Order: sequence, then structure tokens, then C-alpha cells
Amino acid sequence: MSSTSTTRRRVLKTAGAAATAMAFPYVARAQAPMVIKFSHVVAEKTPKGQGALKFKELAEKKLPGKVDVQVFPSSQLFGDAKEMEAVLLGDVQLIAPSLSKFDRYTKKIQIFDLPFLFDDIAAVDRFQSGPKGQELLVSMKNRGLVGVAYWHNGMKQLSTNRDRLVRPEDVKGLKFRIQASDVLEAQFRALGANPQKMAFAEVYQALQTGVVDGQENTWSNIYSQKFHEVQKTIAETNHGIIDYMVVANAKWWDGLPPDVKKGLSEAMAEATTFANKLADDINQDDRKKIEAASKAKIQKLGKEDVAAWRKAMEPVWKKFEGDIGRDLIDAALKSNA
Ligand code: LMR
Repeated sequence: MSSTSTTRRRVLKTAGAAATAMAFPYVARAQAPMVIKFSHVVAEKTPKGQGALKFKELAEKKLPGKVDVQVFPSSQLFGDAKEMEAVLLGDVQLIAPSLSKFDRYTKKIQIFDLPFLFDDIAAVDRFQSGPKGQELLVSMKNRGLVGVAYWHNGMKQLSTNRDRLVRPEDVKGLKFRIQASDVLEAQFRALGANPQKMAFAEVYQALQTGVVDGQENTWSNIYSQKFHEVQKTIAETNHGIIDYMVVANAKWWDGLPPDVKKGLSEAMAEATTFANKLADDINQDDRKKIEAASKAKIQKLGKEDVAAWRKAMEPVWKKFEGDIGRDLIDAALKSNA
């Protein structure tokens, strides 16, 4: 056989395979597992880090040979600034940003940032599982994003590089790193402080070098990022929450082959139960580790102190009530029962 005819046959074979792939994309792809990239910004030993690893384990078990879930923690693949666009562009399939980072996509989701709205994470859970919480999962579909689960982290605490952190007046004039959220910006302005939006990956250095004086976060994020090593005081304010929405590109999710979608949905539901059960334990353990490290002092607050913080942050509610909707706020308040 001449080498020309071998080459021609090879070309025809390749063209035939390409045509099959175009006509039957899932048949062609079935040979190689579908790569699902899951990118997030926190460490592995955090509620979200553990949830993502559990999802990988379960998805690959339920869909053997069909999916290859690759988890990228600690902003390794995409940080705060780029991860939403990356999902929309299809560069990554799943992300789980904090609920504070979606206000560009829907104003309603700002509800989760209202200070002192939820008494605890159990209340957050009740709200998220109720009709209003479930509606929010699909509220960004017109922007190309769909929520597939809520994951918990925990209550936020406030930290600064100052010795005294008991009352709102102690933070007047201080610079605070905040997540990209207008509600959080208003919250610190209400305290007479200077908020600065900044990606999570940059916070440690900003605290260390004094670019900012303080920040707010959960025990698990404070411990895993070593913020307590570059802060003097952490006040146990529990003034807000950090929770997540796991989101996918809506077109990608809706277009998955039915068996893959079913397997991934089940894996996500089980990983959610797993991670949400762990979240409080991780936060409480990390609180103890911060205490034992004796770097930053943990400042407990009395009832009157908490009441003063609550009062100082009150104007924030009025400012955002219109955008969020009273119906949503009432449903959230009811979940505190
Ligand atoms: C933060 O930016 O402080 C948090 O949203 C990080 C995270 O994902 O928990």
C-alpha cells in the first residue's frame, strides 16, 4: 500500500471521528471522563475545603470512569476577582463563593450580609431550606449562574491590630478589609471605620503590613489563614455569617447528560450534608487553637456590648431593605424562632 493512500485513510478516519464527536458529543466524550474543575479560595481544612473533597469522592464513586473532579483550593486556579467569570466562560465548572460576593448578580442575595439578622447557623439553614432561600438558588439564571447547594461556614468575628476591641467606638477610623459587598461596606461606614474591598488571598499580607488594621471572618478562616498571628484582638461579635452558594454555569448544568446530572446532584446533596455537619466543629476547634496559640487575644463581649454593636450597625438594614425586599427579610427573621 502506498504511503499516500495510508495518509488519506488516516485523514478520513480522523475526519470521521470528528464528525461523530460533533453529532454525538456525549458518545464521543464517554471514552474519556468529563473533567469537572471545582475552584475555591480557602484552605482544605475548612468546611468548604472538606465539602469540595467529599463532593469529588462521591461524584467519582457514583459515576465511575465518567467524571474526573479536580479540586483547586486556596485560590490556586482562580481567586475572588476571576472565579465568577471563569465559570461563565466555562474555564471551571463549579465554585462556591461566599454569599457576600454575588451582589453584582442579584441584589436580593445581600440579605445574608445584613448584620445581626440571623441568630445562628441553624437559623440560616432554616431560611435557606425554605421557599425564599430556594428561590435565591435560581435567581441568577438570567445571568448564567445556577446555585446547586448552600454550604455553611459559620458566624463572623471581628479582629483588629488594637488592644481594645469591646465597643463600636473602638474601631472608629480603622481600616478594615471587606469582601466585595456593598452591605459590608455600609456596615463598616456605619461604625465610622474605613472599609476596603479586597480578595481573600491578599488579606494576610494586608494585615501583616498594616495596609488594613482589621477584618471580619469565621474562626476557621482566621485560623487557616493565620490572621490571628497578625492581629492583636478578636472580638467574639457573631455579628454576621459566612456561608456559601455552590454555583455552576447554568447552561452547562442544564445540558448535562441525565445520568451525569443525577449522579452529580446526589453527590452534591450528600457532600452538603457532610460539610454542613462538620462546619461548626471545625470552627469551634479552630477557635480553641487560636486561643491556645496565644497570639491574638479573644475578647468576649457582654450583653450590653453586643447591644451597642447591634445598634451601631442598625442603619444598614434601612439602606438595603428596598433592594432586598421586606418579604425576604421577614422570612429570614422568622427562621430565628
Ligand atoms: C472571605 O473572602 O473572607 C471569605 O469569603 C472566604 C471564604 O470563601 O470563606
